[in-house]
Amino acid sequence: MTIIDGKETARQIRQEIAAEVEAMVAAGRRRPHLAAVLVGHDGGSETYVANKIKACEECGFKSSLRRFEADITEEQLLGVVRELNDDDDVDGFIVQLPLPAHISEEKVTEAIDPRKDVDGFHPQNVGRMTIGSPAFISATPQGIIELIRRYGVETRGKKAVVIGRSNIVGRPMSILLSQKGVDCTVTLCHSRTPDIAAVCREADIIVAAIGKPGFVTADMVKEGATVIDVGTTRVADTTAARGWRLRGDVDFATVSPKCAFITPVPGGVGPMTICSLMQNTLLAAKKAIYK
Ligand code: GUN
Repeated sequence: MTIIDGKETARQIRQEIAAEVEAMVAAGRRRPHLAAVLVGHDGGSETYVANKIKACEECGFKSSLRRFEADITEEQLLGVVRELNDDDDVDGFIVQLPLPAHISEEKVTEAIDPRKDVDGFHPQNVGRMTIGSPAFISATPQGIIELIRRYGVETRGKKAVVIGRSNIVGRPMSILLSQKGVDCTVTLCHSRTPDIAAVCREADIIVAAIGKPGFVTADMVKEGATVIDVGTTRVADTTAARGWRLRGDVDFATVSPKCAFITPVPGGVGPMTICSLMQNTLLAAKKAIYK
C-alpha cells in the first residue's frame, strides 16, 4: 500500500513553477499576478485565501487581495470583477466562494473573463474541458489527475467510481477520468444512486467527494483499489489544539490496508488544490490556454 503524499508533491510542483517563473523574469517578462476577491469574514475562506497568497509567494508570483464587507451589493461586486477583467497587470483572479446570500454566485462567475478564470468555474471553461479543448480546469479534480499521474496509478481501461456530483469536484472529475489519455470507464454516484457500496466494490479507482466523514468503509473497497479522499469535514476534537480536526470521506484505518494507493486527510488532495490554482495562473500568464 502506498500513501500518496500530496503535501510533498505540491511542494515539488511549487518549486517547478518557481523555477519557471525565475526563467521568465530573467528573460524580461513580468511575474504572473493572481488577484483574489474576498467578501465578508468567513473563517474557512480567510484561511483558503491566506494559503493561496502564501503559495503565490513560494511560486514567485505577484498576488493582490481585494477585501469587501459582506454588505457589498451584487452590482458593486460585478464592478470589481469588470475592473479585474480590464486590468492588464492581472493575469488571473478568483472570487472566493461562498458569497453572501444576496449575491448570485452564478452571475459573478459568469462575469469573469474566461481568459482570467483560473478557478475554471466559468461555463466556457467547463464546456471546453468537457469537449477536451484547452481550458482552465477546476483545481481539485486537476490536482487529483496530477497525483494519479505522478504516482503512476494505472488508469487506462480501469473502472473509476466518483461519489458526489458537485460542479467543482465530482462532475468535472468524472469527465477528466473518462478523457482520452486517462481512459477510465466512469460511474458517477450521487444521493439517488442505489447501493453505492456494490458500485464501489467493482471499482479500480474510487474518488470520494461527498463531505460525509468516514462514508467509504472497507467492505466497499476491492483489494488493490486506489482510493482518493476529497473530504475535509471539520469534526470536533477536544485533544486538538484548535478544537477540531479534518476528517475525510474515507475510513482510512480500515480501508488503507486493502489499497494499492490511498490519499490521507490531511496531506493528500488538499495541498494539491492550491497548487493547481498556481499552475492555472502560470498558464494564464503564458497565455497558454487562450492564445
Ligand atoms: N471556495 C471553496 N473552494 C473554492 C475554490 O476552489 N475557489 C473559490 N473561488 N472559492 C472556493
